Amino acid sequence: MAPGHPWWRQAVVYQVYLRSFADGNGDGTGDIRGIRSHLPYLRSLGVDAVWINPWYVSPMNDGGYDVADYRAIDPQFGTMDEAIGLIEDARGLGLHVLLDLVPNHTSSAHPWFEEALASAPGSPARDRYHFRSGRGPNGSRAPTNWAGVFGGSAWTRVDDGEWYLHLFDQTQPDLNWSSPEVAAEFEDILRFWLEKGAAGFRVDVANGLVKDPEYPDIGIDDGNSRGGVSIPYSDLDLLHDIVRDWRKVVDEYEGILVAEAWVDGWDRLANYLRPDEYHQAFDFDFMQAPWDADIMKGIIDAALIGSSGVGAVPTWVLSNHDIVRQVTRYGLPQDVDARAWLLKGDRSLLDPGLGLRRARSAALLMLGLPGSAYLYQGEELGLPEVHDLPFEVLEDPTWVRSRHTRKGRDGCRVPLPWAASGPSFGFGTDGGWLPQPADWGSLSVEAQDGVPGSTLELYREAIDLRSRYLVGTDKFHWVDAGDEMLVFDRGQVRVVVNFGADPVPLPHGEILITSVPAGDGVLTSQGAAWLRSD
Ligand code: NOJ
Repeated sequence: MAPGHPWWRQAVVYQVYLRSFADGNGDGTGDIRGIRSHLPYLRSLGVDAVWINPWYVSPMNDGGYDVADYRAIDPQFGTMDEAIGLIEDARGLGLHVLLDLVPNHTSSAHPWFEEALASAPGSPARDRYHFRSGRGPNGSRAPTNWAGVFGGSAWTRVDDGEWYLHLFDQTQPDLNWSSPEVAAEFEDILRFWLEKGAAGFRVDVANGLVKDPEYPDIGIDDGNSRGGVSIPYSDLDLLHDIVRDWRKVVDEYEGILVAEAWVDGWDRLANYLRPDEYHQAFDFDFMQAPWDADIMKGIIDAALIGSSGVGAVPTWVLSNHDIVRQVTRYGLPQDVDARAWLLKGDRSLLDPGLGLRRARSAALLMLGLPGSAYLYQGEELGLPEVHDLPFEVLEDPTWVRSRHTRKGRDGCRVPLPWAASGPSFGFGTDGGWLPQPADWGSLSVEAQDGVPGSTLELYREAIDLRSRYLVGTDKFHWVDAGDEMLVFDRGQVRVVVNFGADPVPLPHGEILITSVPAGDGVLTSQGAAWLRSD
C-alpha cells in the first residue's frame, strides 16, 4: 500500500477474546488451536487483522490481564509452537496478528512481585512497583484515597506494613514506570513478539502508566486537573515519553501500537496519536454513545477533526470484552445505565429486536466512516449480552471487588456459538467456561452462514463493499438531512442512517447494502443503507 495509506489506516480488525472464541481441546476454554481452525472464517469475513487478548502465563484472576510471564503462552491456551504457527497461518491468509501488551501491571504471581514481597522496604525489587508507607499513626490508612477500577481501595497492605498500588485487582500490582528496569524489560518484550511475527500491540491501560510522584489524593489540585477533578494516575503528560520509546522499537519491524486510552475527549486523545506515538487509539466516546443522531454526529465530528489535527484517523469500535454488547445497550431506553441494569434492572425495559436493528445500522455507520474499525467477536452474529448469568458462574473480579454491587463483564464474554446444535453449540466438544443461552444455536455461525439478510452476511457484505469503495480514501462530508438522520458522502458512496421512528425516502442511487429490507424506496425506522451515486 502507498506510504500515506498503510494497511492499518482503514483496517477492519477482529478482536478475539481467546477464552471464548473456540475450544480446540475440549477443556471448556478457548485456545490457540481453536483460533487456528477458524482462521478461514475470519478470512471469509474479510477482516485485515486479529487482535488477540492476552495469552501469556497467568493465574487468570482478570482474564489474563494479570500476566506472570510475558514471554510464555499459558498452557490452557496452547504452546509457543502453536502461537507461532497461528501467526504464520494467519499471515498466509493475509491476516495481521496484533497482541495485547499489558504494561501497567503484572500479576502478583510474576517473579518480580514475588521478589518485591520477599525484599525489604526501599529495596530495588520494591522500586519496580509502587510501594509506599501508609498514613495515620501506624501507617494503617492507605497512602492515598485512590479507588480501584473494580471497586475497593487501590492499595493493599503487605506483612511488613507497606502498601502497594493496584489500580485493578489486588493481584495486579502496578509497575513503576520511572524504574529503568521496567522500561528495559518491556522493550525486550516488544522485540520478543515482534521477532515472532506479531504485527503490533493493543496497549492495555495506555492512559495509566505514569502516576504523580507526589501521590496526591484525588481531588487535590496537583496541576494535572482538567476540567475539575484531578486524577493523579491517568493521562499524565510524562507517559508520552514511554510511548515514543516503544514507537522507535515497533518502527524497526513496521509494527503498530494501538492505545486503550480512557481520556477526556479528543483534546487529550489526539496527543496519543502524534506522529511519533500510537498509530491508533480507540474512540470510546463512539462506543459508549447512546443511539442518538445528534450525539453520534458530535462524536464523529470531534474524532475527524481531532485526529486530522495530528495527521491520524479515528479508530472506531462499538464493543469489546469490557462493555455490555451493543444489541443490549441499544435495546434499552437511553436513560438506563446498561451496566447497572445488568444487576437488577427491570428486564421488561429491554427490547432485543430494537437493539438488534440499531446494532445492524450501527455496523453500517461504523464501517462507512473513514479510519479503522474494530469488531468484537460475536458482534457479527448479533449476539446480545447474556444478562442472566447466574451469580455463581461469574469470574470477573468486578463482582467480588465491588461487593456484589456490579455484575461485571462476563455477560459479553460468553463462548461463541459456531454450530446450530450440539454441546456448547460447536464452541468445544463439551460445555464452555460460561453457559450459553439455550437459544444461541439460532445465532450461530452455522445458522447464519450464507443466509441472506443474516447479521453475519450483513457484516461480510459491508466489509467487502468497504474494501471495494471506501478503502484508500479519507473523503467525507455530511449531507444535511434533518434531526433524526445521519447522512454523509464518502466519495461516490452515500451512507444513510435513520435514527427516527418513521420511514424516510431513500435518496437516488444504486442500493449497495441495507441493514433492513428496503422496499419501495424507503428506509424504515432504525435502518441504514449505503448507496452509490452514478
Ligand atoms: C483493560 C482491559 O480491557 C480489561 O479487560 C482489564 O480488566 C483492565 N484493562 C486491566 O488490565
